[in-house]
Amino acid sequence: MLILGIDTSCDDTSVAVVKDGKTVLSNVVSSQVNLHAKYGGVVPEIASRRHLETISTALSEALSRSGVTLKDLDCVAVTNGPGLLGALLVGVSFAKSLALGLGVPVIGVQHLEGHIMANFLRPDWPPFPLLNLVVSGGHSDLILLEKSGVYEILGETRDDAAGEVFDKVARELGLPFPGGPYLDKVAEEGDPQAFRFPHPKLEGRQTDYSFSGLKTRALQEYRACGNLEERVPDLAASFRSAVVRELLYHVPSLLRESGAKAFAVCGGVAANSLLRKEAAKLARRVGVPLFIPPKELCTDNGAMIAAAAFHRLLAGKVDGPELSAESDLPLTSWAAKGGQ
Ligand code: KG4
Ligand code: ZN
Repeated sequence: MLILGIDTSCDDTSVAVVKDGKTVLSNVVSSQVNLHAKYGGVVPEIASRRHLETISTALSEALSRSGVTLKDLDCVAVTNGPGLLGALLVGVSFAKSLALGLGVPVIGVQHLEGHIMANFLRPDWPPFPLLNLVVSGGHSDLILLEKSGVYEILGETRDDAAGEVFDKVARELGLPFPGGPYLDKVAEEGDPQAFRFPHPKLEGRQTDYSFSGLKTRALQEYRACGNLEERVPDLAASFRSAVVRELLYHVPSLLRESGAKAFAVCGGVAANSLLRKEAAKLARRVGVPLFIPPKELCTDNGAMIAAAAFHRLLAGKVDGPELSAESDLPLTSWAAKGGQ
């Protein structure tokens, strides 16, 4: 089964070909970072225009790298939300026209479902139930995957997402855009004990996250030391360490309580080197297997969208010309709980 996966939810135009939901035959990612860098953030209008300019070339490239032709494709999958509306529309319209022209089904995939299914792009699939830490520029969620298509949200951020605070703090520290990977790099040279970040106190569900207090504290500390460039590595290291500590804080108890058979981390922030190390330590300590995609499958890519669509296709969940892009599309279960 050959599925073409397309993601244009933000500032990467990505087209991939995936075989049987697990083997990546090609995964083309055309980054727009250089276009947005001078604005210090993603400009939605620029993003959609660039997706339009790039998507056909990305498709040709994905096909030629995989050795697959258009008529070999069994299905076209596309992120239909959440994300930037104009950017999503480019991918969704392109995917629908292509599927219609080829006479194959089109499948809309929720972006977070795509990130989760990136951990299935491997020969041996993770076991169910699977506890997922989904960390991206827009989300920090703890999601239990009972089986394909059945999700339960066990925790989510009350304010900023982890990727968002990494990006914002990095920008204030004078690091280039996008900040997360640069802050990660600078942090390697700093002392994680140099600054203290207390564990945020939350009312209500304790497994939720709150990162805005940590972000404000980091910015205050930087100002208090006179915005000294020499302090950047220590501050980056201490801040990174606090965010990673928070992300993993409730994971051991949730693994126990949910009966999860494995722990998975995904989304752009799963490329963070400290998070990868600490998640590995935690999994060893608790005694569960850990799944984290290779770094290029953590950040946005079309392969994860094709992987997710494979499971929907097996269950007969296909879409048609009515498929629409939705900037706030929530993650919802598409299979019934229980059973096989
Ligand atoms: O999943 P993703 O590519 O796009 C969204 O769906 O949001 O995630 C992008 C986020 C950005 O905030 C980026 O700074 C962050 O992932 N990121 C990282 C690292 N690499 C990417 N954050 C921390 N450390 C990294 N190495
Ligand atoms: Zn993403």
